[in-house]
Amino acid sequence: MITDAQKQAIKKSWKLVVPIAETAADLFYKRLFELRPEYRRLFGDDMTSQKRKLIRMLAFIVKSLDWSDAQWKDVVSPEEDLLLVILALGRRHSELYKIPDESYDVVGEALLWTLDYGLGDAFTSEVRDAWAHVYTLLASAMKMAGSTAIDTGDPIKAREAAQQRGQEALVMQASEAGVDDEQLGLSGEAL
Ligand code: HEM
Repeated sequence: MITDAQKQAIKKSWKLVVPIAETAADLFYKRLFELRPEYRRLFGDDMTSQKRKLIRMLAFIVKSLDWSDAQWKDVVSPEEDLLLVILALGRRHSELYKIPDESYDVVGEALLWTLDYGLGDAFTSEVRDAWAHVYTLLASAMKMAGSTAIDTGDPIKAREAAQQRGQEALVMQASEAGVDDEQLGLSGEAL
């Protein structure tokens, strides 16, 4: 969950990033490739278009923080639906670009570094925490969307692997949500 104070901190700092967005994108990739030179080859030659895509995607995510509770109930096209956009983005990262889950941490680090460098004094600890929180949520959703892909040609193994993942996810969800088997009248060990 993202608090109202965090939303305000993100929106306010994003307004300061917009006028320097292209420079910020340059800095971000420069920092990322300094931290992990081996990631350069994951990207195509045309970094200009990649930088623009990243800026547009971040702008879209920041904008969706403005949605009111009522707007979340509106029916929107899949391209405007934050959840679907993020799930599809996560899926492309894992299946098409073959991005390993571990790389999300260093990308988050490069993002925070860029904001720190670009915003200067405006990058307060409150702003930092808000971006770190939103990035973690985003990265978790993207990784989760990617992990639904099960890479095996054998249907029996695929089913077993899928069941295992489904089971793990359910156990985690149930404990997070405080859902209790006994209250549901479900007895026994098996899910
Ligand atoms: C919250 C995290 C991230 C966001 C918002 C994000 C955003 C994007 C966007 C908007 C694109 C454009 C293409 C598309 O929409 O599919 C893209 C492509 C790409 N991203 Fe990410 N990304 C994230 C994390 C990562 C991570 C962790 C890596 C690992 C190095 C990565 C590497 C790439 C690569 C290799 C491409 C394809 C570039 C190409 O086509 O040349 N991204 N990303």
